[in-house]
Amino acid sequence: MQVPFLDLKAHHQPLMDEFVAAFKEVVERSAFAGGPFVEQFEKEFAAFNGCPHAIGVGNGTDALWFALLALGVKPGDEVITVPHTFIATTEAISFCGAKPVFVDIDEHTYTMNPALLERAITPRTKAIIPVHIFGQTADLDPILDIAKRYGLPVVEDACQAHGAEYKGRKAGTLGAAGCFSFYPGKNLGAFGEGGAVITSDADLKAKIQMLREHGSARKYYHSMVGWNGRLDGIQGAVLSIKLRKLADSNARRRRHAEAYDRLLADIKGVVTPPVAAYGTPIYHIYAVRVKQRDEVLKKLVQKGIGCGIHYPVPLHLQDAYRDLGLSRGSFPVAERCAEEFLSLPMYPELSPEQVETVARELANCIA
Ligand SMILES: Cc1ncc(COP(=O)(O)O)c(C=O)c1O
Repeated sequence: MQVPFLDLKAHHQPLMDEFVAAFKEVVERSAFAGGPFVEQFEKEFAAFNGCPHAIGVGNGTDALWFALLALGVKPGDEVITVPHTFIATTEAISFCGAKPVFVDIDEHTYTMNPALLERAITPRTKAIIPVHIFGQTADLDPILDIAKRYGLPVVEDACQAHGAEYKGRKAGTLGAAGCFSFYPGKNLGAFGEGGAVITSDADLKAKIQMLREHGSARKYYHSMVGWNGRLDGIQGAVLSIKLRKLADSNARRRRHAEAYDRLLADIKGVVTPPVAAYGTPIYHIYAVRVKQRDEVLKKLVQKGIGCGIHYPVPLHLQDAYRDLGLSRGSFPVAERCAEEFLSLPMYPELSPEQVETVARELANCIA
């Protein structure tokens, strides 16, 4: 049995009539760049998260970049984050002219280790970005406590955590801003690029709205230099339809994760994803840890099991960040995880047989 890593066709097929009706409506109203479909989605996404404001933007990278710019991050500043994330997190920092400063991850959550945060703060620190990687939130309370003591805003990178919860509150609602990506493979994915910032701060919302709209609140009157960072009308319409299914899709992912956990529990040499007691993860990615990962992956792919690596090189060891002067050994947990992570197929439409097949083939490969 073949098990693809992701099956977006199966996810979209049951909604096809709704999509076609929505496309027609967008075309009939010629509401393509921003506009009513985006505004409607913003309202719905804010309500889903229990947050007053959502601002649709071009993608998750824009969301992070605009949030940092709106918070005043500028050249010469430092922003603290983790090396185990997608490069967009640090690109947003770099494109403000600021320097990414890394804190290692916690082996029990794969997210920012709060015990290591304080020593990374300097007089130049301007913000902190915990990343809710794989769909599990960072341990936010201690991070928010430290941030408060130093007067620093926390920007949550929730690009992989749509609907995940921390102590009963939605990811993205605890810091000054929460940033989301709607890249097609995400738990809430558009038909192309898309992103959003959520915030309860009306000033921040207004600044981000200006930044995404060439620095203008009124067409052709520009009070600052901004960017073209709007969300498309068609993406707004698609996201509204898919948002209605998100809670159910996340619950299905959790059930698959429980099945994987159970089936892999006794396989020596496989570490299943840790679940922190403080929250409810949404399994954007189900990553196990194995030794000789590349060999195991090769064997699984030969058996027809789609796999991924998120991510093979931690950011401090990427060529793009060579100028930071960091070497192997700087962040040992992130480095070890990067060598061992193996992402297994994870999407709502997986069948129990597919989950069993993946678990069995993984066990065979390890043996
Ligand atoms: C953790 C994380 N941050 C930021 C991003 C950037 O989002 P986008 O690809 O929509 O720009 C992504 C998406 O790939 C991500 O996974």
